[in-house]
Amino acid sequence: MVWKLAQSPKVKEIYVAPGNAGTAQIAHNLNIGSTDIASLAKIAREKRIELAVIGPEAPLADGIVDYFQGIDIPIFGSTKKATEIESSKVFAKELMQKYGIPCAQSTSFSTYAEAKEYIQRQTPPIVVKADGLAAGKGVTVADSIPQALDALATFMESRAFGAAGEKVVIEQCLSGKEMSAFAFTDATTVIPMVAACDYKRIYDGDQGPNTGGMGSYSPPHFITPTLAKTVKESIMEPAVKAMEKEKKPYKGVLYGGLMITTDGPKVLEFNARFGDPEAQVTLPLLKTDLVDIFLAVINGNLYQIDVEWSEDACVGVVMASAGYPGSYQTGLPISGLDNLDGDILVFHAGTKIGSEPGQVLTNGGRVLTVVASGRTLTEAREKVYNNISQIRFEGCHYRKDIAEIKG
Ligand code: AMP
Ligand code: GLY
Repeated sequence: MVWKLAQSPKVKEIYVAPGNAGTAQIAHNLNIGSTDIASLAKIAREKRIELAVIGPEAPLADGIVDYFQGIDIPIFGSTKKATEIESSKVFAKELMQKYGIPCAQSTSFSTYAEAKEYIQRQTPPIVVKADGLAAGKGVTVADSIPQALDALATFMESRAFGAAGEKVVIEQCLSGKEMSAFAFTDATTVIPMVAACDYKRIYDGDQGPNTGGMGSYSPPHFITPTLAKTVKESIMEPAVKAMEKEKKPYKGVLYGGLMITTDGPKVLEFNARFGDPEAQVTLPLLKTDLVDIFLAVINGNLYQIDVEWSEDACVGVVMASAGYPGSYQTGLPISGLDNLDGDILVFHAGTKIGSEPGQVLTNGGRVLTVVASGRTLTEAREKVYNNISQIRFEGCHYRKDIAEIKG
């Protein structure tokens, strides 16, 4: 997002909180946490910030947009109430059921005993979801009843994700192809973005535990104009209308995590943001000035904007630390960042600047994403994999099968 905003002729300076070694190259990093709303508001005033943009879900769910609106700083993102579409899976499911938005059949529970009793009567596979925010770790697709009960106990009894596990959603397991759909909306006009596919499992062939996302590509190889139209008309537009009716008008970017079933697309979840790593492969395809889009969303005149996308394909592969998504070491030097072809993009996630000149160190589980565009998916994919092996840090791991299309 910072990289894209920096391309706008309307942007003079960008400040990022807290930022990383990548944002430091094109913006000013601020040593402020993303949920420290009071400090963010203070610095935004001091720096006379003319447009605030919120990336992650936690500050949105905490009400940063409402706070900034209260002090008249233009801000792109959803209000606390509107963010419930992501921050409460129980709310999102009720919304979809009430307004006929296609999704998996489900039941919500607020006591462990009732949820347990219900699970014991189901036939696996079955999906157990914690209600609240759990950094992508609040969903278990269980192949057996004991596994489902285990997940339930983790969420509701041991409270591994705190208050996020006060309620759970237990739902039917859907099968099909997964796709992430996005739309800009000012609560009235809905403009779809290009869609993307995300790879959540740690290992090739979708093996191993779920992660925050190990790679992504856009557009999905199976998308057709008909599918895109169905997603817009049966999911994105009805969701935005439903939020308006529920007096939680949704402004920002709406993310629908979808399963494309034989019965058509169904919603697995909604998020109130661009998606990570999907943003790394969708925003490079955006031709329109992102600042114009953000301002139109804020001012409610999105209908005036013509959002244009490149016809290219874009592929991004995440390099992760050894041990991720479990525990991992940080502070390891990264080499080879300067040895890449000129048209390769490297978006940093868990990195920081080291003490030696030009040194970049690992600082997280997902360290960086290597991205390339091409006229075809194959071309983009080849560019990424021809370059990624130049980048090295101890124990680094990445999937070799991102955007590999089989059958
Ligand atoms: P979510 O955070 O809700 O997107 O769930 C994380 C992952 O769990 C999704 O990307 C899917 O792969 C899987 N998942 C979630 N809900 C279902 C479902 N009802 N049926 C099958 N897989 C699901
Ligand atoms: N890529 C999944 C997410 O951003 O939630």
